[in-house]
Amino acid sequence: MITHGGDLTQAIQRYGRPLARWIDLSTGINPHPWPVPTVPLELWHHLPRPDDLPETAQQQLGFPHALPVPGTQSVIQVLPHLRPPCRVAISPITYAEHALCWKRQGHTVISWTPGQSLDDIDVLVIVNPNNPTGQTFSPAILWDWHTSLIRRGGWLIVDEAFMDATPEQSLLSQLPDFARSTLPPGLVILKGLGKFFGLAGARIGLVGASPTLLNPLADMIGPWPVSGPARWLAQQALQDTTWQYSMRNRLKKESVRLHTLLEQHGFRPQGGTALFQWLPYSHAYRLHDHLAQQGLWTRHFDSFNGLRIGLPPDEISWQHLSDGLLSYRSRFSS
Ligand SMILES: Cc1ncc(COP(=O)(O)O)c(C=O)c1O
Repeated sequence: MITHGGDLTQAIQRYGRPLARWIDLSTGINPHPWPVPTVPLELWHHLPRPDDLPETAQQQLGFPHALPVPGTQSVIQVLPHLRPPCRVAISPITYAEHALCWKRQGHTVISWTPGQSLDDIDVLVIVNPNNPTGQTFSPAILWDWHTSLIRRGGWLIVDEAFMDATPEQSLLSQLPDFARSTLPPGLVILKGLGKFFGLAGARIGLVGASPTLLNPLADMIGPWPVSGPARWLAQQALQDTTWQYSMRNRLKKESVRLHTLLEQHGFRPQGGTALFQWLPYSHAYRLHDHLAQQGLWTRHFDSFNGLRIGLPPDEISWQHLSDGLLSYRSRFSS
């Protein structure tokens, strides 16, 4: 089983500290979520009806066709069922569910980094920006990779879970003419509403692809996959451009603040997004453990000796993090 950020069960058990006394920095979920309004009552009482969510996703995010899904995790799990066993290239350091789901379905997963050949690859999975490193990929390079993959009937899967703070860098914001009315074959774009909008608990995301891929995907996911209330909330959130605009500015500033704070304490973050910083560090577990003893829960990546640190939710938490980093430095002055 893969561990994920945000699961404080482990932290509570290991450190004997109750849930209310943790500051959770282990996820990349926005600590200032979109303010959820009251959901119209009747939506709880009938099956989800056709609504304007796909059109809203088209207008606000640029999807030619979008399928609402119960979180993009559902798509990550279903896509490997839609191809016979093949060779799938995935970065060795990214959201681990991609590799897990392809392997589980009998595909061969190749640890792939940009610059390596795509000659014998059938499916390339790119998380853009990458979680946890923050590495980004330009639309030009993504289209190049797509072109070489589709020659052999391959797929390019672009997971934009962390893209909403920088929508101008989304593949959807710069679609070439040939892709505007329908995405070309072999391209899948995933967008969760969990991170930037902070709606992780609503389990709602969107997937875009050509109808030839989207239809079998929809069939596999089944009818009414997303609840009416979640669909309604997603629509309101996507249309709230005033909130989105000010939140982007806020998160950019807070991300710089986090980077600066880490540097001030002698750490060297090597990347990140508006929602987290990535800190490869030879004593990553020691730092993770020290911060946990102070009630600060970060995400430790065992295999890569690194920590992902999310944004503190308020001034008290910023101060707490600063104190935790300071006390680490005085305890281990290396
Ligand atoms: C890169 C990435 N993609 C996809 C997901 C799945 O998120 P959701 O199912 O909430 O859309 C996550 C969750 O952490 C993620 O980090």
